[in-house]
Amino acid sequence: MAPNEPQIEVLFSSADIVKRNAELAEQIEQDMGSDILVIAVLKGSFVFAADLIRSLHHAGVRPQIDFMALSSYGDKQISSGTVVITRDIVDTVKGRKVLLIDDILESGRTMQFAANDLMDRGAQMVKTCLMLDKKGKRIVDFEADFVGFDCPDLFVIGYGLDYAHYYRELPYIGHIVKE
Ligand code: IMP
Ligand code: MG
Repeated sequence: MAPNEPQIEVLFSSADIVKRNAELAEQIEQDMGSDILVIAVLKGSFVFAADLIRSLHHAGVRPQIDFMALSSYGDKQISSGTVVITRDIVDTVKGRKVLLIDDILESGRTMQFAANDLMDRGAQMVKTCLMLDKKGKRIVDFEADFVGFDCPDLFVIGYGLDYAHYYRELPYIGHIVKE
């Protein structure tokens, strides 16, 4: 059953996000040029990616878009959790400049795995763009190339991020103060 309306503290408003996406798009265009392959990691990044590609368009980028889904298996508490591809891309990455987009960087395992995997498949370069970065939670040695916002060590929802598969539709990023 759908949850009752919880009390949510807004961390990053719609206006904050719109402004930041435009800045990110400019940075990406300067760094990668206009001919890129965007790969959005499902499900969490679909809202961010949908907005960012339109900001990229305004910045002069003409991206192709593909999607992949990744899953971390094993006990999340143990640092040996491995990542598997549950839905692969359709496009070929060979020789391409790839921009890998995800919602939030925590342990860094998901992004490290995906970036290495795409390089192994012959991508010319793989750069990563994360909407949020929870720096305090890093387990592996990995840093993103482009980051929307530094995220406090709170469980956040909205703008694609879920709690028990709900709240992805919220037009802002927040955290639940009271359920
Ligand atoms: P990691 O960097 O491999 O640990 O991957 C982090 C993944 O865990 C993200 O892609 C999200 O799907 C999920 N996640 C981490 N923190 C949050 C949060 O605060 N809210 C919602 N999902 C989260
Ligand atoms: Mg995810």
